[in-house]
Amino acid sequence: MTEIQQSRRASTAIRASTFTESVIREMTRVANQYGAINLAQGFPDFPMPEPMKDAACAAIHGDVNQYAITWGSPALRVAIANKYRSFYGMEVDPEREITVCCGATEAMAAVFLALVDPGEEVIVFEPFYENYGPDAILAGAKPVFVPLESPDWHFDPDKLRAAFTNKTRAIVVNTPHNPTGRVFTREEISLIAELCQKWDVIAITDEIYEHIRYAGGHHVIATWPGMRERTVTISGLSKTFSCTGWRLGYAIAPAEMTSPIRKVHDFLTVGAPAPLQAAGAIGMAFDSDYYNHMAMEYRVRRDIMCSALDEAGFKYAPPEGAYYILADFSEISDLESREFALWLTKEVGVATVPGMSFYSRPELGGSVTRFAFCKKADTLQRAAERLAQVKATV
Ligand SMILES: Cc1ncc(COP(=O)(O)O)c(C=O)c1O
Repeated sequence: MTEIQQSRRASTAIRASTFTESVIREMTRVANQYGAINLAQGFPDFPMPEPMKDAACAAIHGDVNQYAITWGSPALRVAIANKYRSFYGMEVDPEREITVCCGATEAMAAVFLALVDPGEEVIVFEPFYENYGPDAILAGAKPVFVPLESPDWHFDPDKLRAAFTNKTRAIVVNTPHNPTGRVFTREEISLIAELCQKWDVIAITDEIYEHIRYAGGHHVIATWPGMRERTVTISGLSKTFSCTGWRLGYAIAPAEMTSPIRKVHDFLTVGAPAPLQAAGAIGMAFDSDYYNHMAMEYRVRRDIMCSALDEAGFKYAPPEGAYYILADFSEISDLESREFALWLTKEVGVATVPGMSFYSRPELGGSVTRFAFCKKADTLQRAAERLAQVKATV
């Protein structure tokens, strides 16, 4: 029987046959089942900004309820362009260089499908946000992994250099990084930029945590000399405005790349929700006070989480950005990461994501688990109280 016949019998296309259920979403279900505090999935349990909620309601009542222009409402695209000019000194043409998508997730998938051919290689830092692997598979591309090495999650420049070949089409640059909390330095971004130009490779970024940082600036690789023309900058509103359910993200790229991205996006989803785009434009116009305040609140959350992990005996690198800690539990337990996460959920009442789900080979993440601390201080304090029992429970 051919591979296709076998897959037909299983009613699964070959391209989807290796996909597993998202472990992150699965852990949320397990958390609910056991009444655990959910530090697994990266969604905030606090409200998003009121002016944006009001704007969304006003848009719905004002009958902004039909399809927006497929690549994004003009107001949102203009607001995005204005923000990139004022925050990053980057000129973006809202008419030709922005595609608003249903989240950074759809933007990433659309970009892979639009720009990467089957057989081409895409460099991905490992551990990685779990969608990049499936995105590569959907595009028929081959992911090539470069390790971010514990304990501080830096990459070895020589390993990165060795990953670039004539087959490399793209590199995914996610900073601030999920799941490690790393923020790439200016030097690291410069090396990536240099290699992209040397090997004629495009950078596909995921900058969804750009405003959640505890140390260091955010470096937008598209603003590096020679990179604007070979970079797709992806970001979104989910994390910045605590509205993961709104599904608003975008890809910024030169017009030649934006044209195919828009076509793929159109066929995938037609467009992101129109009334929410109207409200998104209000948020994108917030000034730096909003972002500074948000970062300050996240610093408090991070500090609560770090103290709780210290107390419980986890080893970790304090995050420089994003809202995750990838913590090593090998001094607490010999269990494998999935077993450990299930144990922690059921016995201690705190849900995390097993490290294996961020690696190409599960054993690489065998002794780490990811805590998401995008939660109210009160939620984190309750989690800390439970985690204080870890040593007694083992
Ligand atoms: C690195 C990274 N990219 C993208 C996303 C999803 O973004 P969106 O909600 O815009 O699809 C997440 C969500 O956790 C993430 O961690």
